[in-house]
Amino acid sequence: MKYLLQVTAAVALCAGVAHADVIKVGVVGPFSGGAALQGRNFQAGIEAYFALHGKTVGEHEIEVIYRDLPAADPGQSAALTQELIVGEGVQYLAGYYYTPDAMAAAPILEEANVPMVIFNAATSAIVNASPLVVRTSFTTFQTSTPMATVARERGISKAITVVSDYGPGIDAETAFVRAFGAAGGETVQSVRMPMTTVDFSPIMQRIKDSGAEAVFAFLPAGPQTLGFMTAFVENGLKDAGVQLLAPGDLTQESDLPVLGPNAAGMLTTFHYAVSHNSPENIAFIEAASNWLGNPDELSFPAVGAYDGMTVIARMIEATDGRQDAAAAVEAVKGMEWISPRGPVSINPENRHLTQNIYLREVAEVEGKWINHELQVFENQGDPGWVAP
Ligand code: PHB
Repeated sequence: MKYLLQVTAAVALCAGVAHADVIKVGVVGPFSGGAALQGRNFQAGIEAYFALHGKTVGEHEIEVIYRDLPAADPGQSAALTQELIVGEGVQYLAGYYYTPDAMAAAPILEEANVPMVIFNAATSAIVNASPLVVRTSFTTFQTSTPMATVARERGISKAITVVSDYGPGIDAETAFVRAFGAAGGETVQSVRMPMTTVDFSPIMQRIKDSGAEAVFAFLPAGPQTLGFMTAFVENGLKDAGVQLLAPGDLTQESDLPVLGPNAAGMLTTFHYAVSHNSPENIAFIEAASNWLGNPDELSFPAVGAYDGMTVIARMIEATDGRQDAAAAVEAVKGMEWISPRGPVSINPENRHLTQNIYLREVAEVEGKWINHELQVFENQGDPGWVAP
């Protein structure tokens, strides 16, 4: 009994006091199933961070603990998150590919005293679900808004929108319709399809029947996007001259070896292209590709994860390893750095990235299909964020 009391006292003394130790980061993402390559890109980004910056921050060593969530599943996300906190004692949570998974985990953070750094989930409202959420990806509102300007500049006046019927799809649709309308364009129809849709032929027929010159589309990057792009071509819409406009989720680089000429000339707006020409990106690509083994597998979730680790390292440094979620988040508000995607900063109001959004064109350069950057929309905040 006396020994137990001493131990308890020692633990109590240690709590809140800086000491050299292992800091556990729990990462939830799709590491198996159809979207496994997206999760693999989380891991590639984390490993690239360690390769370039090391695994230690001061005297603290970072240990990453992975949990597999193959498809959007809020119940399972909450369960895995709890288990990481209670069972593994993680001090930070990170990852979260799909919006419903991030939304389900956010209410757990405050009581657990754990910040969450989102590597991907892209619905504007997620940051309002907890003051302990910081996001290093993008929002679909942020990436889709400039596409309306691009469409109008290219003389498109009638468009139809087609999106997956959940948070980031509804945000993408709202963003495009709003900005396209403000620029004098007309959205003739807005179609929302279940997230699980695999047969896109009926949708392609609706696009044809709508008489629109262009379709603006969003689906979460993964098997669905490849299926949608293939159906667009196989149903003759490309040949009929219908313009396909989208945020870059539809032309992620890891799909381009398969999509190849079918996507040639397609315009997308996005926060990151693997072909972005900067010293930071060249170093990042080399490190991430080394870990992946095959450079063709590299895609945007890797840069969200790499920058997410940059933010977590700053949080660990600022708190000197103490578990103080509020102080960790406070320390990164307003943080600025040069990401592989370009200059970024964390908006202190909504803890989301302000960043460049690039207009890109799918092109073959030296035998490789890439998203070739054509134009920059600088320092874009999140136009979809509404103060709670
Ligand atoms: C999301 O669920 O928030 C999500 C997933 C994949 C994307 C974009 C957004 O490509």
